[in-house]
Amino acid sequence: MSTPGDTPYRLTLRHPSGVTDIVVGAGALADAADELAAWVGGRTLFVVTTPRVLALHGTVLDGVRRAAARSVTLEVEDGEGAKGLASAERLWREMLAAGGKRDSRVIALGGGSCGDLAGFVAGCFLRGVGVVQVPTTLLAQVDASIGGKTAIDLPGAKNSVGLFHHPALVVADTALLETLPTGELRSGLVEVVKMAFLLQPQLLTRVERGLPRLLAGEPEALAPVVAEAAAAKIAVVESDPAEQGSRRLLNFGHTLGHAIEASLDYRGLRHGEAVAYGILFALRLGLRRGLPAGQAERLRALLGRFELPALPELSPDQLLAAARRDKKARESGLVWVVPVALGEGRSVADVSESEVRRELDHFLGDPWAGFAADAAGSSGRPPL
Ligand SMILES: NC(=O)c1ccc[n+]([C@@H]2O[C@H](COP(=O)([O-])OP(=O)(O)OC[C@H]3O[C@@H](n4cnc5c(N)ncnc54)[C@H](O)[C@@H]3O)[C@@H](O)[C@H]2O)c1
Repeated sequence: MSTPGDTPYRLTLRHPSGVTDIVVGAGALADAADELAAWVGGRTLFVVTTPRVLALHGTVLDGVRRAAARSVTLEVEDGEGAKGLASAERLWREMLAAGGKRDSRVIALGGGSCGDLAGFVAGCFLRGVGVVQVPTTLLAQVDASIGGKTAIDLPGAKNSVGLFHHPALVVADTALLETLPTGELRSGLVEVVKMAFLLQPQLLTRVERGLPRLLAGEPEALAPVVAEAAAAKIAVVESDPAEQGSRRLLNFGHTLGHAIEASLDYRGLRHGEAVAYGILFALRLGLRRGLPAGQAERLRALLGRFELPALPELSPDQLLAAARRDKKARESGLVWVVPVALGEGRSVADVSESEVRRELDHFLGDPWAGFAADAAGSSGRPPL
C-alpha cells in the first residue's frame, strides 16, 4: 500500500491467475485513467451497468470509452434481481451480436450485484474475457470486487452458480459513494466491521471514531477505511485463494445473515443489515467459547450505533431450514464463524442443533440482549 495519508492508495492482490491492482480513494478513476485507456485501447468495450448508476455516474467512463474502438453499454436491473441466468444469457447474446471477441473488454460499473453478474458473464463468455471492476457501493469496494468470486443466483439459491474470475484492475473511487443512500453505506460498513473485528482490529477503532462522517458518505473519510478493509481482504484472499481455510473468516455473521435474507425473500433488510444480525448471533456463540464479554459488548455497541432496521419476525425453524439450503452449508451440516477474541475467529462445524435452537430462541426474543450489559440486568438494545 502507498504511504498512509496518500490517496489514491494502490494495493496489489496476487492470486493463482496473476496480479490485480486495486486503486482506492477519492479520484481513483482519474488516477487509473491512462491504465484503463491502454487496457481498452482499440478493442470493443462492454460496460455493464444499471439504470441508477448510469444516471448518476454514467459519464465517469467517458474518457475510457473514447480510448476503445467502440463502446457498448449493457444495462441490467438495479439490485440483486440482475444476478439471474436470464440476465446473463441476454448479455452473452448481446455481446455476440455486437461482435464481441476473445480479446474484447468488460467493465462492471455498479454495486456488488452488477459486479458479480458482469464478472460471471465475462468469465464464461468465449471461455473468459478480461474484466475491470469499478465498484460504486461501499460493500462492493471493500468486499465484492476483490478476490475474483463471481456468481449468479438460481431461484431460492443465491450465488449458487459461479466461478473465480479475477479482474485485471479494481478502481474503487470513493467519490462515487457520495450519492449512496445511508442504508447502503450502513450495509457496506457492516462488512468493514466484520473484517475489522476478526482480521484488523485497528480498523475497528477508525470506524468507531469516524462513524458519523462514514455514514454521511464523506469520500475523504471513507478512503482510508476502504483501503484498510481492502488490504485486510487482500491478505486473507492471498493466504487462501480457493476458500479452503482462513478466507472462511470473511463469512463471520453470514450463516445466519444469509438465512435471514432468504427467509425474508431478500426483501426488507439489505445484505449488510442481515449480516449485522448474523454477527450479533455469532457473538453469542463466541461468548460460549471464550470470547471476552467486553470485546463482544464493544462490537454490539458499535452495531447499535448503526441504527439498523428492526429484525422482522422469524422463527427458528424458518431460519434453520434456510441455513441448511445455503450454499455455505456442508453435507455434514452448518458451518459457523465464531469469534473467540478480537482478531481471532474459527470456522466450526460442530455447533449442535440444540445449542443453535436455544440461542436462536433468546436471539429472536431480543437480538441485542444477552451481552455484558445484561449482567447489570438491562437489555443491550440500542436506544430508538
Ligand atoms: N463476489 C464477492 O466476493 C461478493 C462479496 C460480497 C457480496 N457480494 C454480492 O454483492 C451483492 C450486493 O452488493 P451491493 O450491496 O453493492 O448491492 P447492489 O449492487 O444490489 O446495489 C445496491 C443498490 O445501490 C445502488 N447503487 C449502486 N451504486 C450507487 C451509487 N454510487 N449511488 C447511489 N446508488 C447506487 C444500486 O442501484 C442498487 O439499487 C450481493 O449480490 C452479494 O452476493 C459478492
